[in-house]
Amino acid sequence: MKILIMNGPNLNLLGEREPGIYGRGTMDDCMEGLRRAFPEVELVYYQSNVEGFLIDRLQQARSEGVAGVVLNAGAYTHTSVALHDCIRSLQMPVVEVHISNVHRREEFRHRSMISAACAGVICGFGLDSYRLAVSAIVQAGGEGREA
Ligand code: DQA
Repeated sequence: MKILIMNGPNLNLLGEREPGIYGRGTMDDCMEGLRRAFPEVELVYYQSNVEGFLIDRLQQARSEGVAGVVLNAGAYTHTSVALHDCIRSLQMPVVEVHISNVHRREEFRHRSMISAACAGVICGFGLDSYRLAVSAIVQAGGEGREA
């Protein structure tokens, strides 16, 4: 089983960026932990600060046998109709992930443009949010999103 882990803008700075909110762990640490926790799963990681590149990468996933996507779209979560539309075009489940509990933060973070297109949402568990999302996809056995 192959799962794509995707991060959007500014998440390349994990470990340095606002550690009081996002912690000191890096994405390298997170991927290492995930590979240890799910040795049977092929975990592919992609990060971009560019909205269109995230969409290109998701579209590419359509034809590479990806069972599910774990997506932290960062700030694009709150703005991107284009990501919403792209997620709806995919057959595999996409799990929306946030490191912080966005609902305890500024009001502009309370609205997600992508939740309605996703299979589910996990937020507020730090980097462990990614593990919970991978686990959800593994449990679901890569079943498609109910449209
Ligand atoms: C985030 C929350 C977003 O509101 C923010 O723009 C991010 C990170 C999170 O993981 O908590 O960049 O997605």
